Amino acid sequence: MVFADLNAQSIAILGCQWGDEGKGKLVDIIAEDADYVVRATGGANAGHTIYTNGQKFVFHLMPSGILHQHTHCVIGNGCVVHIETLLKELENLNAANIDYKGRLFISDQASVLFDFHKHLDGQSEQNLKTKKIGTTKRGIGPAYTDKISRFGLKFHDLKDMNLVRSKLEYLFVKYDLNTEYNLDEVLSELEQHYGLIQEYIVDSVDLIQTAYKQGKKVIFEGANGALLDIDHGTFPYVTSSNSTLGGLATGTGFPVNKMGHVCGIVKAYTTRVGGGPFPAELEDEVGQQLRDQGHEYGSTTGRPRRCGWLDLAILKRVMFINGVDSINLTKLDVLMGIPKLQVITKYLLDGKEIHRVPELQSERDRVEFQTEEFEGFTEDISRCQSYSELPLAAQKYIEFIEEFLQVPVKFIGVGKDRTQLIFR
Ligand code: GDP
Ligand code: IMO
Ligand code: MG
Repeated sequence: MVFADLNAQSIAILGCQWGDEGKGKLVDIIAEDADYVVRATGGANAGHTIYTNGQKFVFHLMPSGILHQHTHCVIGNGCVVHIETLLKELENLNAANIDYKGRLFISDQASVLFDFHKHLDGQSEQNLKTKKIGTTKRGIGPAYTDKISRFGLKFHDLKDMNLVRSKLEYLFVKYDLNTEYNLDEVLSELEQHYGLIQEYIVDSVDLIQTAYKQGKKVIFEGANGALLDIDHGTFPYVTSSNSTLGGLATGTGFPVNKMGHVCGIVKAYTTRVGGGPFPAELEDEVGQQLRDQGHEYGSTTGRPRRCGWLDLAILKRVMFINGVDSINLTKLDVLMGIPKLQVITKYLLDGKEIHRVPELQSERDRVEFQTEEFEGFTEDISRCQSYSELPLAAQKYIEFIEEFLQVPVKFIGVGKDRTQLIFR
């Protein structure tokens, strides 16, 4: 249905803020109609939540299409994979009677993330003292560091345990791991894990290419969010991969000019977990109201998410970077009962318009904001099934967003469940 409506064979679903926009929910809904769902970047720093038939699933590495029996799920070459975390997700699927055999695939070019990467992540955070990034401590930065430095292990290496040993010997010396870890134990655990997942490891680029050429419908599932992108985010308070559109292409081998439709996921307000600048942040009772009503606590770490107004000034830039064709505005229901809603529309630094959050605190201190104010709504919209059922105040808010960003809002989230989505 959705693929036909959008006239696309491939759909990218990308977070446009600081993550947790609600990507997993839309992927799950559209996956009903998809043949493949592919993750391209990140690792278990991602936490994608799906509610269906009263059941809750949170996926970290598993693509969010796995609940549909006919959908193939691929962990792409750009991902960093902690095998034990993946095995836990498989156990959860087993417990829920979801069969994934024959339809789960792991790229042989994806990177292996070890326990010691998590340990190094924690250490690095500790050393940063007051300048902590606030990472998820899932080892993401260290694993990508090893990949970029060309010392890291990829899944294809696991066919040759002598090669694995020599690579690990090098890493053990490089990071001085011998007091904390035993190389033989690490190797033997890896061998055991490999035995459990070997059957899923494939040349994922071939797989996706062949499927696409056969006319199969593919969803590319973004992780994290545009403002956490290593190049385009609020550096250094970002993740260690490209979580924008380009990352989907390099992380899967799927050419960016064949992407049929890009859906940008935008929360109706803004949240952020971890450190870093957040100009629209509300550290008052409205911020708390958003956190309470939106249950804004991290799906991966359980940390309270910082909450604030919608920031259209930065989103405007993200729309272009991600090539967004349509928006899924999520969690509109959460705004219920807030008397006046604000959005940021412009940043001025020394009177001149700028289009991103300045990296320097001294500049951030001088930024002035232009905002727009809207009437809120008090109606419960969680049962609305069509646009016209939404209160006029909510419609006005949506139409302002569309007009400002020059991108149509095609999907509107009015609750966490699969069924609570308005297609426009
Ligand atoms: P993701 O990382 O982008 O997949 O998002 P998360 O799963 O980390 O966080 C989004 C949270 O909001 C999840 O708990 C979702 O179930 C929930 N959610 C998604 N869309 C909506 C919506 O439209 N309304 C409400 N109330 N909750 C939503
Ligand atoms: P999903 O896919 C929200 C944030 C962390 C931290 C920074 C770096 O669920 O939207 P990392 O562990 O990646 O080195 O942490 O990035 N972060 C996320 N925040 N949602 C995510 O993923 C995130 N992935 C990373 O909180 O600030
Ligand atoms: Mg999340």
